[in-house]
Amino acid sequence: MYASKHQATSSHYNSEAFDSKTITYVRRTAYLPFSTHHQNPQENFSMLETLNGEEANSEKKQCIIVSGAAGFIGSSICHHLTANGYNVLKLDIRDVENTCDITDPSAVERWFQHAKAVQPNVFALVNCVGIPDVAGGQSATDITEISSETFRLHLKVNLEAVFTMVREFVRFYRSQAEHIINFSSLYAVSTPSLEIYDGKIKHPGYVASKAGIVGLSKYCAVLCAKDNIRVNCIAPAAVAETKGVEAKFLSKYNSKVPLNRPISLQECADAVAYLLLSKNTTGQNLVIDGGFSL
Ligand SMILES: NC(=O)c1ccc[n+]([C@@H]2O[C@H](COP(=O)([O-])OP(=O)(O)OC[C@H]3O[C@@H](n4cnc5c(N)ncnc54)[C@H](O)[C@@H]3O)[C@@H](O)[C@H]2O)c1
Repeated sequence: MYASKHQATSSHYNSEAFDSKTITYVRRTAYLPFSTHHQNPQENFSMLETLNGEEANSEKKQCIIVSGAAGFIGSSICHHLTANGYNVLKLDIRDVENTCDITDPSAVERWFQHAKAVQPNVFALVNCVGIPDVAGGQSATDITEISSETFRLHLKVNLEAVFTMVREFVRFYRSQAEHIINFSSLYAVSTPSLEIYDGKIKHPGYVASKAGIVGLSKYCAVLCAKDNIRVNCIAPAAVAETKGVEAKFLSKYNSKVPLNRPISLQECADAVAYLLLSKNTTGQNLVIDGGFSL
């Protein structure tokens, strides 16, 4: 099964059946590691080469769908993927050529129909989509201030819509699909600290939705195993470059982290790279938090 998927994916790399006006599609020729530190491909030696033995500069090019592609983490991952030779189909509700609101299942289906038409071979889906916190959580100091409406909104975007993405990806790319990676959060496995948020509470709907992603991904890993599709999560802690992460917050946050620092966008991309190369890892939640949750 895996070999046939691999061949099928490779055979379409040179397809030019692509309309750049209707969908964002980035094509590069080199297949390089995820390092941004080295500009000379000959000097690159990373996890990607180490784990799968692929030759840098080989003609291998694979296509990946990234949802939440306009966001901090999503755009960084798109950048790293394209810099390393992958083709990327970008999905977001804003700032991409082919926008889609993933809370609308019929819009998601239409998006995938179009994606399939322009790129019949996609081997991975990375769901970076999400809403971080909505009114109520940002200012509330007590559970009674959290409305059911905002709670449901988190579940709708961060959980239900991610399920829609997973389902449609499998529907449209079952025979080529190898990986689904969903972004959960540190707060799926560890409780937000009131102290680092100045007594404000992180929205319970966010925490519930991210914990839901972990459970959903585990079960999808089992459901999709027959198709040799690995389903995993990445649970980042606070990402330093994310808008709104202030020095005051970071200082309090760092004091709770054994490695004493936040994580970086590069480290999120490295986690994606690792999972893309992990052929026998499925149903896992890869926590990158400097030890916060220990
Ligand atoms: N940034 C962090 O520190 C951090 C930490 C832990 C987990 N995460 C998770 O990582 C993921 C990415 O985080 P980020 O910081 O890049 O967030 P972000 O807000 O910058 O990006 C999320 C993207 O999702 C898009 N989006 C929202 N609703 C949508 C919808 N209905 N349809 C289509 N697109 C929609 C937004 O337009 C945005 O571009 C999220 O799931 C987030 O919960 C982030």
